[in-house]
Amino acid sequence: MSNPFTKVLIVEDNDGDAMLIRKMLEGAEAQHFEVTRAESLSEATKLIGVKTFDAILLDLSLPDSHGIQTIESLRAVAASIPVIVMTGLSDETVGLNAVQKGAQDYLVKGKVDAFRLVSSIRFSIERQRTIIEKDKVERPKAQIITLTSYKGGTGVSSIAVNLAYTLATTVKKKVLLIDAAGFANHISILLNLRPKCNLADICKQGKELDKQFLDTAFSTLGDNLSIICGLLKTSDFYDINPSFIKSLLETVSYDFDFIIIDTKAGLLDELNMLAIQQADMLFVISTTELLAMRDTKFYISALQEFGIPEEKIKFILNRDDLDVGILDKKLAQKKIDIPIYSSLPNDWQLSVKASNYGKPILDVDPKSKLGLAYKNFAAKVANVNLVSFKQDSSKPEEEKEKKKGMFPWG
Ligand SMILES: Nc1ncnc2c1ncn2[C@@H]1O[C@H](COP(=O)(O)OP(=O)(O)O)[C@@H](O)[C@H]1O
Ligand SMILES: [Mg+2]
Repeated sequence: MSNPFTKVLIVEDNDGDAMLIRKMLEGAEAQHFEVTRAESLSEATKLIGVKTFDAILLDLSLPDSHGIQTIESLRAVAASIPVIVMTGLSDETVGLNAVQKGAQDYLVKGKVDAFRLVSSIRFSIERQRTIIEKDKVERPKAQIITLTSYKGGTGVSSIAVNLAYTLATTVKKKVLLIDAAGFANHISILLNLRPKCNLADICKQGKELDKQFLDTAFSTLGDNLSIICGLLKTSDFYDINPSFIKSLLETVSYDFDFIIIDTKAGLLDELNMLAIQQADMLFVISTTELLAMRDTKFYISALQEFGIPEEKIKFILNRDDLDVGILDKKLAQKKIDIPIYSSLPNDWQLSVKASNYGKPILDVDPKSKLGLAYKNFAAKVANVNLVSFKQDSSKPEEEKEKKKGMFPWG
């Protein structure tokens, strides 16, 4: 092990037991240990949020948690730290159950000596590391989707939020949503979040990001959606460092299926440029007004001039049935000169209602045209077939195929 000290957190309410373990570890000759003790699950959770640990020794009976629930709660806040459970003489089956719930090992109090304790810690750390490495090899890298537009107000933040939520809930993908749109902080408003950490706090950690810190830094909604909220105060701006954000994307790239980045309008900003360059798919959002279309056409050619490959750029038409501008989607497609990847109907009332409630469109009205359009959009992004979400207006695939040849832009 390269680090001279192995940092161990003992979670144990019994002073005598805690002292015994501390003595064994501090007396170990083969390895140096730095020992921290928590007397309850809540104290342990707090410590994990502010300090790094290599391993946790966990007593399952604590003043604020008992039995298997203790390991489940701890793993929820410290999934990447190996946990060794300490059980009483009479409950070895509990130890085995804990291993099934993700503990690396269990030790029976009163039967453990310094040698067994130290080797269990070393073994658990190694095993956890192997699991993480194996997971990396087996899991594909997250696809990064950046949403952008030439001007503000076209629906970038709304689409980022609703696409992320639909991918997480309907398609069951693991999604990280990042608000890189500056001070507007629209994502936390649209999802009614009270974030503990934002993008600036994560940047403050520097390049070497600690997974344990990240486990507690993300806000979450349901099982599959993690969120990093935007900037809150002027001083946050000075903490933003695009190269640290690049490291963040690398560090978490095997933990998610999709990373969705909301940006503020325009190109000429270091953070926007990073989000655009890192994208596997770049969704350029436009509404239907003629001027918006012109701007979008110009914007897409500027992106290409900046070296963004054409195949990464996807055109999204928002509020496609709004009573202004280009009403014919085919004409819109022709104007922009690239195919429409997805289009979303106008539903001002539902959009306002959703943002007032701080809820995604799908939670407010899943059967609405806009809700269905999000389901189809998410299915396309995840490359899955959600036939049942087909909208009434959509033509059968065959017919679409036949028509393709009739229009040069089809
Ligand atoms: N499909 C839609 N139908 C109706 N209103 C929409 C739609 N998409 C977004 N909006 C509304 O448009 C406004 C701007 O959206 P927002 O997501 O903040 O845009 P941006 O992030 O591009 O500035 C918001 O009031 C939002 O509710
Ligand atoms: Mg926005």
